[in-house]
Amino acid sequence: MVKKLVLLQNIVKTYQTGNIEHQVLKGINLEVKEGDFLAIMGVSGSGKTTLLNIIGLLDKPTSGTYIFDGQDVSKLNSKEIAFIRNKKIGFIFQAFHLIPWATTLENVLLPLLYRKEGFTKEDEKEAVKLLERLGLIDKIHAKPSELSGGQQQRVAIARALINKPKLLLADEPTGNLDTQSSSEVMKIFKELNQEGLTIILVTHDPEIAKNAKEIKIIVDGVFVEK
Ligand SMILES: Nc1ncnc2c1ncn2[C@@H]1O[C@H](COP(=O)(O)OP(=O)(O)OP(=O)(O)O)[C@@H](O)[C@H]1O
Ligand SMILES: [Mg+2]
Repeated sequence: MVKKLVLLQNIVKTYQTGNIEHQVLKGINLEVKEGDFLAIMGVSGSGKTTLLNIIGLLDKPTSGTYIFDGQDVSKLNSKEIAFIRNKKIGFIFQAFHLIPWATTLENVLLPLLYRKEGFTKEDEKEAVKLLERLGLIDKIHAKPSELSGGQQQRVAIARALINKPKLLLADEPTGNLDTQSSSEVMKIFKELNQEGLTIILVTHDPEIAKNAKEIKIIVDGVFVEK
């Protein structure tokens, strides 16, 4: 049986600004199984990032149930949540979020610094292997400012993969890229998914969404299936 990795039941997220309450997510139900590749679409402000941050354990819902990898995460404390997030989830953002003063290799190894044991020679080898695969081996000692947008995003992909996550979350990963770099990034995503990685991608570009196996659209705080 294929395992459910993400199970959201009636997820509601309300933001309070002064006296005004704004319900962004109004009862999201979602099931993502291991090996799935889902694209989430919706207009600007529809709550895509809010939802992805909840799925990625960066934010908590106002109400509803979230079972991640068989565990009810609402019952966990923040330390346990951070542990799961660091171990099982990789993130990719539109703006790359690389450390400007660190090299490509250092940026990729960065998530391992949050572990008690830090990183080993083996980890370094793994990082080099990832960078080789992503076509960045000649940029291993370069700083982000010396890289193109597409190269920076590939560094961010390597960084997201260094912990061997079960789930890859990407929020508009091609939003800052030209067509050529975008299709390179999507090719990598497809390959990773074919190798078994579960991917949830947020985009408002239908051409990008087509790369996923399934597309869901948020309208008025709930999903409408395409
Ligand atoms: N921390 C916050 N406090 C108050 N309101 C917020 C907060 N974060 C998001 N919102 C509001 O929630 C709504 C959804 O925001 P969100 O960033 O999830 O949209 P989005 O679908 O990702 O949009 P975009 O495509 O522009 O990235 C917006 O109306 C936004 O203003
Ligand atoms: Mg967003």
